[in-house]
Amino acid sequence: MKGISLRAPGGLDRLERVELPDPGAPGPGEIRVRLHASSLNFHDYAVVSGRMPAADGRIPMSDGAGVVEAVGEGVTEFGVGEVVVSCFFPTWQDGPPTVGDFSTVPGDGVDGYAREAVVRPADWFTRAPAGFSPAEAATLTTAGLTAWRALVVDGALKAGDSVLVLGTGGVSIFALQLAKAMGATVIVTSSSGEKLERARSLGADHTINYREQADWGVLAREWTGGRGVDHVVEVGGPATLPQSIAAVRVGGHISLIGVLTGAAGPVPTAALMARQARLQGLIVGSRREQADFVRAIEATALRPVIDRAFALDDIAAAFRHQESGAHFGKICLEF
Ligand SMILES: NC(=O)c1ccc[n+]([C@@H]2O[C@H](COP(=O)([O-])OP(=O)(O)OC[C@H]3O[C@@H](n4cnc5c(N)ncnc54)[C@H](OP(=O)(O)O)[C@@H]3O)[C@@H](O)[C@H]2O)c1
Repeated sequence: MKGISLRAPGGLDRLERVELPDPGAPGPGEIRVRLHASSLNFHDYAVVSGRMPAADGRIPMSDGAGVVEAVGEGVTEFGVGEVVVSCFFPTWQDGPPTVGDFSTVPGDGVDGYAREAVVRPADWFTRAPAGFSPAEAATLTTAGLTAWRALVVDGALKAGDSVLVLGTGGVSIFALQLAKAMGATVIVTSSSGEKLERARSLGADHTINYREQADWGVLAREWTGGRGVDHVVEVGGPATLPQSIAAVRVGGHISLIGVLTGAAGPVPTAALMARQARLQGLIVGSRREQADFVRAIEATALRPVIDRAFALDDIAAAFRHQESGAHFGKICLEF
């Protein structure tokens, strides 16, 4: 069975194609999944590039989707032939967050889904939305569920709310699509005029080029008539947070999601206090939230935006494409 392993200390040239033993038949409570797709996230990039060191030989990729090939004794939730998608936190099934690190996350603390088949407990997966290809399904594990958690679980988004999304990567494009599907107005920022055009074609109501407009948060606020936005999907981190605080309305909500501009930095605390805004850190979501999200996708007919798909053997090229920042939405692996 084909797979990819990452040699310590990491680096895109240290991703190796390997032959792995067949995982065998599922035991009680387990399923065997023939994996057909994964999708790339900034977190996977941090692992494979060596920024977040992983054990020597780690099989990368948090996201995995494929078809159930066999079910073990006692498994009633899934049937053979069903398309399933992996969970980011296999041990966080339901309720409030219980995990604050990546030690249980496939592709980081434990082996992930850059391989052709796995046998895993059935509750490490949920069903995929009806009619989704494995590549589409694989985008839900990390990027999709993060957008759902930010806007719906934590943000209690409702029709008429305004949402600001930063950039046009995986999480942000999902957030744009979800917010539009649920009747919100959306402001999108990007470094690229062409990407902003694409965001408008997906329904963005207002767009700002953050390279040309350093005060994009102030401009977003002005666009709302001075009220400020209800929700900010904050994927930038320290260098973008001050403008996100400028954009948010009094009593609004900022989902602190990303580290694209670094892991630490000064916070304009007085401005945040004056906004009386809620700054909510989050890491992806629970299995229950993923199941809810799958139902929401079916009800809204949302389809993930896949920028490009690469073969499993071309995993390093896929990460180089992500590194270049040329993508819009999700990059996938298909195998
Ligand atoms: N906490 C969580 O649960 C969670 C889950 C998923 C992701 N994340 C984090 O969220 C961030 C985004 O992840 P992703 O997978 O969506 O990444 P991605 O697909 O690689 O998206 C990167 C995009 O972000 C935009 N960007 C980069 N620098 C920016 C800046 N200074 N201001 C505004 N936009 C900027 C760029 O958009 P343009 O090309 O349009 O400029 C870039 O294409 C990462 O830091 C990741 O670690 C966190």
